[in-house]
Amino acid sequence: MDNKEFSALLPQANEQLSRGVFLTAGGEIWNPMTIGWAQFGVVWARPVVTVMVRKSRYTYSLMEKTDVFTVSFPRAKEMGKELAFCGVRSGRDVNKEKEANLTRLAPRAGGAEAVAGCGIVMECRIVQKQLLDLNTFDPEFREKYYGSNQALPDGDPHVLYVGEVLAAYEL
Ligand SMILES: Cc1cc2nc3c(=O)[nH]c(=O)nc-3n(C[C@H](O)[C@H](O)[C@H](O)COP(=O)(O)O)c2cc1C
Repeated sequence: MDNKEFSALLPQANEQLSRGVFLTAGGEIWNPMTIGWAQFGVVWARPVVTVMVRKSRYTYSLMEKTDVFTVSFPRAKEMGKELAFCGVRSGRDVNKEKEANLTRLAPRAGGAEAVAGCGIVMECRIVQKQLLDLNTFDPEFREKYYGSNQALPDGDPHVLYVGEVLAAYEL
């Protein structure tokens, strides 16, 4: 994937990120999860996307079984209901594809199936993953985001998945 073509998509992608986007893992189970945090850039001389998934998410178990993921960005002011649903309901309890009335879009470059109807798709291959080490965290951040109020007693740290961008395109 060309760095310039990737960078051209980032203003729009970043704007949508604040409203939520869909993360889908590769593998047999298709379970879109809403994410609001991600990083985009050029590292190791190639475009990468880093997503952050807490260990308590069903999506975490799916990410651990695959080496690809896809991020699908709805167009501005679209798919708000679907984002809200996939941001509170777990694929452990519901079939999000059916309940949120979502449709899959076949990948172009070997990534995971995307969410149809979105405006930008980024297909990625996992090249590095890292469980956050809370011992090296800024104490204020640690208390706020990984304190005793989290779903797991260990603070439910995120795993960072760094994905090489296989393809990123507008629809
Ligand atoms: C706007 C928004 C952004 C979110 N961002 C993240 C995120 O970046 N990482 C994460 O682990 N969970 C995030 N969540 C929470 C998950 O989407 C939520 O826990 C979801 O129900 C998990 O689904 P799953 O159990 O099917 O994986 C976000 C939720 C919302 C509403």
